Amino acid sequence: MRITLCLTANKPEPWQAGLQAALPGAQIDIWAPGAPLADHAVVWAPPQAFIDEQTQLQALFNIGAGVDALLKLKLPPHLKVVRLDDAGMSVQMAEYVCHAVIRHFREFDGYEADSRQGRWGYRKPRSRADFAVGVMGLGVLGERVAKALTTFEFPVHGWSRTPRTIEGVVCHSGEDRLDTFLSQCRVLVNLLPLTPQTTDILNRRTLARLQPGGYVINVARGAHLVDDDLIALLDSGHLAGATLDVFRTEPLPPEHPFWRHPAITVTPHTSARTLRDESIAQIAGKILRLERGEPVAGLVDPVRGY
Ligand code: NAP
Ligand code: GLV
Repeated sequence: MRITLCLTANKPEPWQAGLQAALPGAQIDIWAPGAPLADHAVVWAPPQAFIDEQTQLQALFNIGAGVDALLKLKLPPHLKVVRLDDAGMSVQMAEYVCHAVIRHFREFDGYEADSRQGRWGYRKPRSRADFAVGVMGLGVLGERVAKALTTFEFPVHGWSRTPRTIEGVVCHSGEDRLDTFLSQCRVLVNLLPLTPQTTDILNRRTLARLQPGGYVINVARGAHLVDDDLIALLDSGHLAGATLDVFRTEPLPPEHPFWRHPAITVTPHTSARTLRDESIAQIAGKILRLERGEPVAGLVDPVRGY
């Protein structure tokens, strides 16, 4: 079996060594134009030339959860696309989102500013009941995040394409329930995949549905959010703040107003990193399953877009 690696912006050598250790019988190549044809590929943002040249591939293993970049390519219809299925990401996402929610709810920014000034001052405790959190996307990451938020006793709502049941979470589904879902929430967490249906979904109309003093946490993709609409709603006072981990252009350009907005916290697409060892173990296991003709989890439906 031959596996090729095409990992734009990632060092391929440690992946090559890790996959070789996990699959000692396989030939693992780092792709360059003209490389031998492989049976499987491990990829991040490969160029179209890679797909066009590697005509014998059975499956593409994406080293991330989101496949939006991959699905922009022209892929042959028989080619399986397999996303990372957690592989250590959901716990990171839960800690990032819970941190952002709690930091806002408990006003830790204010206490930090006070501490720099040597000021000992209490803020009035706020009621959790006034801080319902809505999680858009209840998949591998969204479900874990929603469950984690319930452990802090926030009222939690969730929204997905098809109906879901999660203990302790009020689940809504479908486009016609979006406004109802939003209107029940003060904090909004986005964990949707980027598809034609979800592009620009965080816009002036939808964000205005959040309760006054709303707070936005975008950890999915930058193109979910209409940047100017967020700024307008922050400046009008309808929204209180935002924590943003993903952007339309990454790295976020130095001149972008998000950097300087006092109510926005920017992090550099780091909420749930790909963990190499966990990912290699998962991908190697799935390659062996496919070779045995067995089904694998995390198979992407190109029509659905995730
Ligand atoms: P997933 O398991 O595929 O879950 C996607 C969820 O979104 C599902 O609940 C799905 O509904 C829902 N959904 C999809 N389209 C929808 C629509 N049109 N309307 C309503 N709900 C819709 O994905 P995941 O593994 O949780 O990852 C989610 C996203 O997080 C990724 O696509 C990626 O963009 C992002 N991500 C970001 C980072 C980071 O570091 N910032 C890291 C990893 C992933 P159903 O349940 O009905 O299918
Ligand atoms: C990161 O953003 C991923 O999709 O895994």
